[in-house]
Amino acid sequence: MTSQITVTDLYKMKKEGKKIVALTAYDFPFAKIVDESGVHMILVGDSLGMVVQGQSSTLPVTMDEMIYHTKIVANTCTRAMVVGDMPFMSYQARMEDAVVNAGRFLKEAGAIAVKLEGGAGVSHIIKAISDASIPVQAHIGLTPQSVHKMGGFKVQRDEERLMADAREVESAGAFSVVLEGIPADIAKKITDAVSIPTIGIGAGPECDGQILVLHDLLGLNDRHLPKFVKQYADLGKDAREGVRMYVSEVQEGKFPTEAHSYKGAGQK
Ligand code: KIV
Repeated sequence: MTSQITVTDLYKMKKEGKKIVALTAYDFPFAKIVDESGVHMILVGDSLGMVVQGQSSTLPVTMDEMIYHTKIVANTCTRAMVVGDMPFMSYQARMEDAVVNAGRFLKEAGAIAVKLEGGAGVSHIIKAISDASIPVQAHIGLTPQSVHKMGGFKVQRDEERLMADAREVESAGAFSVVLEGIPADIAKKITDAVSIPTIGIGAGPECDGQILVLHDLLGLNDRHLPKFVKQYADLGKDAREGVRMYVSEVQEGKFPTEAHSYKGAGQK
């Protein structure tokens, strides 16, 4: 697969038992790195409210902020499928707003699909968006936009409800479903039960694919990390060291040297 990945490729990967690798990205330098690293799907997640804006939840993120970041990522990626995350209250209140807002991700930002949170309770919205030819990824289990309703970021263990949610979003036309913060055995049962690819985050190894928040994986989030995160690099430490060295070299007159300075006319 060298051309841009489509929903059809994802269905094929599920059928062939090939793992789908997904990650979040929000800006040009990281979208480029993630796209060039062979990731199949890039979610411009509303997690940017926490890891880019430094807020304590995803609730304050706006449509305009999501469109801004999604446009940057979509313009950068040549291979990964770019999914725009619908922020809190951009789809819950009115069906018409939901379809129009979903359309903005494709029309203005260049995304290929949108994601929204919720199961059976939002299946009518998933159907309306999908009927407008906009691919929709559902997101069930621990849904961060419901943090206050859940009483915190809590693992969800009601198997019957989770299975019903997965089946409902599939019937409503979702092309994929994110399973977040649910026990691994339930995630496996859901993955076996539905025909659409399941993408897990804190849902064990048996999902059709995995996603993480990029800043968690790279060590750029120094808040408490959930158990399901594996940190693969420590860019926060490297960045702090680099900036500290710059500060002390400027203060000590070690930077800039001649090598970083221009000379007069006629000289290089
Ligand atoms: O906003 C986000 O980054 C997400 C993923 C964690 C699935 O919803």
